[in-house]
Amino acid sequence: MGRVAYVNGRFVRHEAAAVHIEDRGYQFADGVYEVVTILGGDFVDQPGHLARLKRSLGELRIAMPVSEAVLKLKMRELVRRNGVKDGYLYLQITRGVAPRDFKFPKVSKSALVMTTRRQKFAPAMPNDAGVKVVSVPDIRWTRRDIKSIGLLAQVLAKQAAAEAGAFEAWMVGPDGFVTEGSSSNAWIVTRDGVLVTRQPDGSILHGITGNSLEALARERGIKVERRPFTTEEAYQAREAFLTSATTFCISITEIDGRPIANGHPGELARTLRQAYFDYGLKRQAQPVAWKQ
Ligand code: PDD
Repeated sequence: MGRVAYVNGRFVRHEAAAVHIEDRGYQFADGVYEVVTILGGDFVDQPGHLARLKRSLGELRIAMPVSEAVLKLKMRELVRRNGVKDGYLYLQITRGVAPRDFKFPKVSKSALVMTTRRQKFAPAMPNDAGVKVVSVPDIRWTRRDIKSIGLLAQVLAKQAAAEAGAFEAWMVGPDGFVTEGSSSNAWIVTRDGVLVTRQPDGSILHGITGNSLEALARERGIKVERRPFTTEEAYQAREAFLTSATTFCISITEIDGRPIANGHPGELARTLRQAYFDYGLKRQAQPVAWKQ
């Protein structure tokens, strides 16, 4: 964790950073967040993350605590103060501090907290054997398009994965279709080489990483279908992988104990990981646009 945190307008020592016990984020999970990758000292897909942040806030009628221009300055300043080259910035905005009452407070000031963390990113697949995934029931609310800090279902899903020796849990709706991972989007490659991932509606969080990766895939002439798929279809897939700001793109080689294809990371996932890495380093002057 970086030495310095940003809390409501001030840069403070991380150990001393604190918010009030009646912050509505603490009491009601009344807030939203973003995780933005830092690569080579710069943000990756920052406009997309800010667009999604503003959308999440708008859906919950939480005011932006500062202008977008100021937010960008503070983000950059935090990265500079912590000297982060590779890693990510965590940003959280809540409805602020008010006496505990479910309805919106008449007066409150949105609270903004930011931290950074170092993490090395490499273009090569981080785990040569790929990672394991287990499926769990998706027990979340129906507004998964909002990047809410209410993550209890994801905490339980990730814990279930960890206890099963897996890296991620794929959440499955009552209709039998995979929605997404507990903190990532879910992808498969069909036997015909078509990339499949769920359409961005209320059932999933529309990933910024996945959105850019989709554009990079299309640039390479790869066909992408945005539609639901079942675990059964995933077991039979040529490849499976996950995407998120903290993982980029990681191959899945086993789902629910079943090896995917030959049980080794697939070629397409490798190609797209490398492509996203290059895009993150070299194409941030004109990043891919994101919209819900
Ligand atoms: N999670 N779906 C869910 C439920 C997520 O929590 C995330 C990201 C994603 C991928 O979104 P993006 O590509 O914009 O990171 C999809 C972040 C990394 C987290 O909670 O740590």
